[in-house]
Amino acid sequence: DTPLRVYAQKLGKEIGVAVASYRYDCSRNDGETGLVGNEFNIVVGENEMKFDATEPNQGEFNYGGSDAVMWVADRFSQEVRGHTLAWHQQVPKWVSEDGKKNNHGFTKKELLNILKNHIFNVVGKYKGKIREWDVCNEVLDDDQSIVRTDPDAYKLRPSIWATYIGEEFIDSAFVWAHRADPQAKLYINDYGVEFAGDTKTEAYFNLIKRLKASKLPVDGCGLQCHLTTGQLDTLKLEKNIRRYAGIGLKCIITELDISLANPYSADALDIQAKEYGAITRVFLRNENCPSMLVWGISDNHSWRQNQPLLFDSNLKAKPAYYNVHAQL
Ligand code: XIL
Repeated sequence: DTPLRVYAQKLGKEIGVAVASYRYDCSRNDGETGLVGNEFNIVVGENEMKFDATEPNQGEFNYGGSDAVMWVADRFSQEVRGHTLAWHQQVPKWVSEDGKKNNHGFTKKELLNILKNHIFNVVGKYKGKIREWDVCNEVLDDDQSIVRTDPDAYKLRPSIWATYIGEEFIDSAFVWAHRADPQAKLYINDYGVEFAGDTKTEAYFNLIKRLKASKLPVDGCGLQCHLTTGQLDTLKLEKNIRRYAGIGLKCIITELDISLANPYSADALDIQAKEYGAITRVFLRNENCPSMLVWGISDNHSWRQNQPLLFDSNLKAKPAYYNVHAQL
């Protein structure tokens, strides 16, 4: 019954979870709070550090949720990932109605200042405390068929930042985050970029090579790994992770969950467990993959359907949990 984090620590690895601070009950050592503290040695706020949570009105910062994440992490001696600074979702209305439209008619210069001020405040607030930040999240378009004709290409997703500032918002965000906390490790993060050969995966590698070539302070990339049973290809995943090692970058599994494919087979939970085990082995045997985090603790509080996590609605460990455990 030794917790995951004990084994992970012995292996020099971090195993983590996305937490919801409003569900923390710090008066108790059991329940969800206890489980998070007991099993995991790194956490990330599921929503607490996003733009809409931290700067709900211009220049007015709210650190209630993020402070709660930090406080509990400190109590349980957990590292914290900061998620996330520049994203097209969960942007407050005063910036953009939907994360894409420039409905307030901001100029490029104004938007750069908005982003800069946000990053300096949030990263500055947790300077020396948050070890790493997802600086940019999901900047790539889902359609990357362009790489079939141009193998070095990538296409950005339209967003308030990309459309009205241009690609330099990415460069600037990294530079500002680095200036706000020179010790913090800086990441880019995305989904659908897990398996080598997929167009979006290739585009992600191209973009990251470009960031490196521009000498930006990028320490690594996140592979979200929002999967459904049947999708995992460990060979392609490992090939992808190793490529990043080849250019001196870390590659973290940032938001792992594996939903059961519909319709469920009788052995669906065992299939899920096998895939969780397989991805854990890839994580363990690749030195440039220091951490693996699951996106939530229990199936009933997941952002996705079909029981994607390690614990069921009663916080009871599932076969997936036991198979992650068995690999450590
Ligand atoms: C999700 C949260 O889990 C939800 O609670 C919220 O309503 C929407 O965002 N990729 C990311 C995460 O980078 O921030 C998202 O989290 C899931 C997809």
